[in-house]
Formats: sequence, structure tokens, C-alpha cells
Amino acid sequence: MSLVRFSVSLDKRVLDEFDRLIKKKGYPTRSKAITDLIREKLVSEEIKVEDKDVVGVITLVYDHHKRELVNRLVDIQHDFNELIIASQHVHLDHDNCFEVILVKGNLRRISELANRLKATKGVKHGSLHVEAVCGHIL
Ligand code: NI
Repeated sequence: MSLVRFSVSLDKRVLDEFDRLIKKKGYPTRSKAITDLIREKLVSEEIKVEDKDVVGVITLVYDHHKRELVNRLVDIQHDFNELIIASQHVHLDHDNCFEVILVKGNLRRISELANRLKATKGVKHGSLHVEAVCGHIL
């Protein structure tokens, strides 16, 4: 195994939170924790290569004051309407909205939807959680 060192710039608050988290989880070093995160991400990306129908949840936190952003997110959702079962909007606080979008359909296309939503400027955080592969739901 060859090790490589690299540097990363992060918001200090994010790093502080990360350090608290990895301490709580018992990681000996940041390197080990980051390696695990990257591995987990690589595995989840690998799953997405397969052309399967799944059910899942897309979550988004975004700045409610950016009116253009809200319209853009709705436009994107209409472009993928066949995948969306339901969505729920929560006014999180004065500035932030929290949106949960329930999806069902082709995993590749769901990933495309999630990526487009997450990549929209003003979205602070977004994720796709694949709950189950259709036909294999317990
Ligand atoms: Ni709101």
C-alpha cells in the first residue's frame, strides 16, 4: 500500500464538527476516518452503475431567501416527475428550507435528479438515500 499526502481546505466549523464526530466514533486519526468515508462513497457510487429500480429519499437544505433557487428546484423536479412519488417541504428556520422528496424508479435517473438538485447554487446540503431495490424489499 502506498500512502499519499494531500491538503484540503475546509470551513473551520465543518472541521470542528468532523473532529467531534470522529472522536465520538473512536477513530484514531482523521486519515482513517476520511479513508472510510471515501471508501463508503466509492461503494455507493458502484451500486449506482447498476441499472435497477429502487425506492429512496432525496433530502435538501437550502436558503429560502433565494427565490430564483426555489423555482429552479421545482423546474428540475418537473423534468423528472415520473420518479417523484411525493415531496414534503418544511420551513426549518427563518433562513432555511428542508425538503424531502420520495422517489421510485431507475437508479441512474434518480441519481441524475439528485445530482442536479444538489448542484444547484444555494443548496447547502443534499443527499440521496437508496432504501431498497424494487423486488427485493423485505
Ligand atoms: Ni420553506
